[in-house]
Amino acid sequence: MAEEQTKETRLGSVKDMLRSPLRTIEAVRQDRYKSLKVRIFFTVGTLAGVPLLIVTAVCFFWLHAVLVDDFSSHLRWQMEHARAGLEYFLSDRISSLRYLASAHPYASLVNPQSLREIFQKRKQEFPELIDLEVVNADGLQISYAGPYSEKGKNHAQQDWFVRAKVHGVAVSQVFPGDRDLLHYVVAVRQYVPERDSFWILKASIDVETLNRFVAEIGLTERDDAFLIAGTDMLQTHSRFHGAVFQRVAMPSLSQQRGFTLMKYKDEVSGNVILGATRVSGSPWTLVAFMKPTTLERIFTMLKREILAVYLIIVFVAIGVWMNYRTTHSIVNRIRDTEKAREEAITHSEHSAKLASIGRLATGVAHEINNPLAIINEKAGLIKDLFEMYPESSGCQREFLPLVNAISESVNRCRTITHRLLGFARRMDISIEPINVNDVVREVVGFLERELAVRNIRLELNLDENIPQIESDRGLLQQVFLNIANNAIDAVSDGGEIVVSSMPENGSGLKVVIRDNGAGIPKEVLKHIFEPFFTTKQKGKGTGLGLSLSYGIIKRLGGTIEVDSFVDKGTAFTITLPLAAELDRSVQ
Ligand SMILES: Nc1ncnc2c1ncn2[C@@H]1O[C@H](COP(=O)(O)OP(=O)(O)O)[C@@H](O)[C@H]1O
Ligand SMILES: [Mg+2]
Repeated sequence: MAEEQTKETRLGSVKDMLRSPLRTIEAVRQDRYKSLKVRIFFTVGTLAGVPLLIVTAVCFFWLHAVLVDDFSSHLRWQMEHARAGLEYFLSDRISSLRYLASAHPYASLVNPQSLREIFQKRKQEFPELIDLEVVNADGLQISYAGPYSEKGKNHAQQDWFVRAKVHGVAVSQVFPGDRDLLHYVVAVRQYVPERDSFWILKASIDVETLNRFVAEIGLTERDDAFLIAGTDMLQTHSRFHGAVFQRVAMPSLSQQRGFTLMKYKDEVSGNVILGATRVSGSPWTLVAFMKPTTLERIFTMLKREILAVYLIIVFVAIGVWMNYRTTHSIVNRIRDTEKAREEAITHSEHSAKLASIGRLATGVAHEINNPLAIINEKAGLIKDLFEMYPESSGCQREFLPLVNAISESVNRCRTITHRLLGFARRMDISIEPINVNDVVREVVGFLERELAVRNIRLELNLDENIPQIESDRGLLQQVFLNIANNAIDAVSDGGEIVVSSMPENGSGLKVVIRDNGAGIPKEVLKHIFEPFFTTKQKGKGTGLGLSLSYGIIKRLGGTIEVDSFVDKGTAFTITLPLAAELDRSVQ
């Protein structure tokens, strides 16, 4: 029963929270903490997350640069290796021709028979040799050993002839040649001092020898490598750009010796890394278009891994957050339950304490009442005796005021004992149907003068839908008056008091008397319902108002609750049942 009542009062105060501005202050404060929490959470999140993102981005780009560099160096190393091989091969061919020219007498070289023998021997060592030819200073063929002889052929206009004549040695571009056998020419000049003239020994070599060096770069099937002459003419077969002599769309390369490495968007292969290096002593440039497939694969993998790590971080963070929230709410619930339990214990202890104080006061008042009645009676008797014996008039003048003083004190004592007895519900209770709003209006009527003098604003906020209840009009008046008087004492001049009434979901009604006065400190709050407890100056307060009101409301089956914030104000909430169930537990 007591527990039920506690629950009811608690529910009541939760609902009240929505109505009372004092509760609203608390709610605003809670909201502020909540938004502060959210802001701190996001700031900390940003402070932790942004550097992480920056570090990841920087690492990613560094790694990208390092990998591209590594990839390019690898390509460069492979191409330089192939170029060096080709240069070595060409110089070997030239040396070999030089040796032929100087080791054999001119006469045997111009003799077709012996030239053929020399050619046969050479061809055994070097099968890609197509033919050997001796050319005189005017470019005329003197002798020829090989498969396609056309006697009297003149080479004077050929580029290789001019170059060999001037520089002593020449390597030509690739020719289609007779019968479409792709080849190139290596030629050396032999000086004849007796005649102050020269002749040239020329060898045609199969283009296959070049293909071999290009293949050495070791490319995958998505890459392409070839030799070009000039700026863009193919000299070997290209996987994606066509056959020999076709032209390749290329960026203009520096014609100086050296290595070029660049990113290039090719029409056929798309984005590639282009490597190019000049083959010295020849008209060729070795070119490779390499798809950065491995690189792309590494980066896709890397991106996927980074994404996975971030997802894991996010999931872990969410997990930790949810864990924290759950723990937090469980702990909060435990704390709330414990708090509610403590409050319930305190509340019931407080009620028990008030009840026993009430019993004590009643007992004392009751015990004192009888001797008081005797004193009063005896004092009255003395007065009567004085009147009966007027001859004692001399004494009468001196004693009568003393007897009157005794009677006055006895009356004062009786008022107090009566009030105490009222607290103990020894008063008569007369139950009748009541409209509580009317009772409130009557009480306010009593106070009007004082309110006006002190310029206190009293607002009535009465809900006309409250139910009619069965209760004691006089006692309720007394309660409202006590509480309203306290509110008037608490506010400074010009203060504000609001009296509201509202139905209490079918079980009765509620009256809230709220002021914006000084409020009650916690340590005072514990004692306000005790009889004779007052913080007011001597003569101003008796300390009986609230104890009496508490007893009355309890007796009428209701509850009385207080919410107070220092410097903000106080609200007394009186809950009354539809019909006063007289609580006889307090006698
Ligand atoms: N509205 C209020 N604002 C501030 N203090 C209050 C209020 N109502 C009651 N009190 C405190 O409770 C004490 C007890 O009140 P009460 O029992 O009516 O005795 P009294 O009014 O004679 O002091 C008061 O002395 C005062 O300290
Ligand atoms: Mg009072």
